[in-house]
Amino acid sequence: MNKTAIIVIGAVLAVAVGAVVIWLVVSSIRPVEDMSADQNGIVQQEDTPSNEVPLDPDAATPAEEAQQAATVTIANSTFTPAQLTVKKGTTVTWTNRDSMGHNVVSDEDAPEGGPPKESELFGQGEAFSFTFDTVGTFPYHCTPHPFMQGTVEVVE
Ligand code: CO
Repeated sequence: MNKTAIIVIGAVLAVAVGAVVIWLVVSSIRPVEDMSADQNGIVQQEDTPSNEVPLDPDAATPAEEAQQAATVTIANSTFTPAQLTVKKGTTVTWTNRDSMGHNVVSDEDAPEGGPPKESELFGQGEAFSFTFDTVGTFPYHCTPHPFMQGTVEVVE
């Protein structure tokens, strides 16, 4: 009877350990699954990292043209660069390099003309773009991570 109990307990433990191992493996590949799952979100363009850079690196454009697009990278829950100055009409693209979802929303007291004040999260490898057509200073943050803060200053 005792032997049977030990065998049963051993079998239960083996199944439990196996389940944990499977769970760890599934967890480790989760970011890839999230990427495809998030593609139905609000991301407006650039589903893959390969075509995220809006500037043609071969085009030696004058400063004016170079200012028409700008990028901010999100990594380690940080916007880089956090302070960005662009010309009016510039499209800024935020690309998420973290495995967790982030968003880009204007601060509550930000002036009109910046990003929306509500936005869905976008996942790893995905991007969010906004075109700044209004001169001003536009502070923004990430809804689930209020410590993530950045500012876009738009000049003529
Ligand atoms: Co965030």
